[in-house]
Amino acid sequence: MRPMTDVDTVFQSYGRCCNHESFFEDFYRIFINRSDAVRAMFVNTDMAEQRRLLRAGISWLVMHARGAPGGKLRDLGKTHNRDGYNVPPALYEVWVDALMDTVKLHDPQYSTELDRQWRAVLKPGIDLIRDAY
Ligand code: HEM
Repeated sequence: MRPMTDVDTVFQSYGRCCNHESFFEDFYRIFINRSDAVRAMFVNTDMAEQRRLLRAGISWLVMHARGAPGGKLRDLGKTHNRDGYNVPPALYEVWVDALMDTVKLHDPQYSTELDRQWRAVLKPGIDLIRDAY
């Protein structure tokens, strides 16, 4: 049996988190409360739909770390760039910090090591979206 990689560990943690719709509700509450710039971007957004879309979006980030081609993430790079939602690159750090606060709230197996693994696994995918700015 091959040893568990960081991606396996994060995949399982995400499974424990995203079984509950409240994970995504808590994420957007935390994310939006973190910055007025973030709040302003979601004033006209259907948040029920947005939670559904984010569920897939986080899976694509994890799949990317597993070697999946980055097509979906490149599409997100385009919708989020300066010609799209115009998301300032600095907000991606706010996004990932809010996500980790939400994982901490929902995954009983949360630890500082798990936090480090999540950030390492998501980084290449997040960089791909942010660098399309
Ligand atoms: C890497 C992290 C992120 C992921 C995986 C992600 C994922 C998504 C997905 C899947 C969608 C829906 C599909 C689309 O419109 O292209 C979306 C829409 C959106 N995202 Fe992100 N996003 C991320 C970071 C951010 C950040 C940092 C912001 C800044 C506040 C942001 C703001 C938005 C906005 C404004 C929309 C459109 C909402 C609407 O339709 O009204 N996203 N995101």
